[in-house]
Amino acid sequence: MAVYLDNNATTALDERVLEAMLPYMGQVTGNPASVHRFGRLQKDAIEQARESVASLVGGRAEQVVFTSGGTESNNLLLQGFASKITKVQSGCRIAVSASEHMSLIEPAEHLPSAVSLEWLAVDRNGHIAPSAITSMMADAAEEDTTLISVMSANNETGVIQNLSPLVEAVSKNIEDGRCFFHTDASQAAGKIDVDFIGSGVHAMTLSAHKLYGPVGVGALLIDKRLPICKRQFGGSQEKNLRAGTENVPAIVGFGRAAELAKAELQERSRQQRILRDALEAGLKTIGAVDIFAEKVDRLPNTVQFGVKGFDGETLLMQLDRKAIAVSSGSACTSGKTEPSHVLKAMNVADELAHSAIRVSFGKSNTMSDVDVLLTALQDIIEINQHSPVMAANV
Ligand SMILES: Cc1ncc(COP(=O)(O)O)c(C=O)c1O
Repeated sequence: MAVYLDNNATTALDERVLEAMLPYMGQVTGNPASVHRFGRLQKDAIEQARESVASLVGGRAEQVVFTSGGTESNNLLLQGFASKITKVQSGCRIAVSASEHMSLIEPAEHLPSAVSLEWLAVDRNGHIAPSAITSMMADAAEEDTTLISVMSANNETGVIQNLSPLVEAVSKNIEDGRCFFHTDASQAAGKIDVDFIGSGVHAMTLSAHKLYGPVGVGALLIDKRLPICKRQFGGSQEKNLRAGTENVPAIVGFGRAAELAKAELQERSRQQRILRDALEAGLKTIGAVDIFAEKVDRLPNTVQFGVKGFDGETLLMQLDRKAIAVSSGSACTSGKTEPSHVLKAMNVADELAHSAIRVSFGKSNTMSDVDVLLTALQDIIEINQHSPVMAANV
């Protein structure tokens, strides 16, 4: 039996979610924009899902804009903000933490040249100091409007960012309407408590397939104070922020997945924390293993570690041969494996960063999966340590 330990990449669709989606994939037809009863049925289903998604993250239904996923939400946010501000004001600044997901980093790098882009450094634990925000804002010109984006929890290390002192640094020192805060909560939602309104942020990204919902659907929660305009044209759907006929089955699935995540969050998190702690205890007995950001608050399902003297991609392939699916911390760019930008930003030495493996548990994993992984890792490390051929791969 194969063991799937890559739930931060994507989760398996929950059967109860599929059940909720099925009627909208055949039996129930109609365009939600149509005023007849068929259309109204679809529209009602979307609005019910909107309530459920908002309720999972402490938002209000009217703040939810459905998109095709976390990537689109991040693109819409950055481009929509930049476009609105550059049209009406002279200065647009966007500050992004250095450990964001590529779906935020890449669109940030492609913003028009009129936007001033800044990077917020993270410390060795992946955290951002509130002083980094206050000192950045101290440089702002009077006419500047700033957007700060800091993710709630990191997809690789699982590090949870304490947003309150960061948001407070903005709200205490900067006059209302000059600085806005966004958080990508794609990995946090459904794993830890997330509170859109309570946290004081102005926008939040979500993705359904990280919480046992379907791929291809997500949301951007938007506080009405945030300046933003649409980037996709041709219709007035989703409060005129996202043109295009809504993907009703996917949205319904997202809504159901959010309901289940809310109801089961404590239990899922308790179970996965037990597995993660057991894995970490086991890794320590193997030796030569470094757990990244070990001492700080992390997602209950995630552990990322480096195995000294090994290459993460090679380890991943060897585990795959044993039918165990994990993720490495590297990205393959033009045929060359680069260590993860997240670990680089945390100042992890290149060699150790190259050896990174991420394990992310899901609700179907059991203690036997932990045992299988630990045994396999031990075997691989032992064999490779005695094999000069494998050492060449390191
Ligand atoms: C933190 C984070 N943001 C955004 C995304 C992108 O989400 P999607 O796959 O729905 O586009 C991911 C997916 O890995 C993620 O981990």
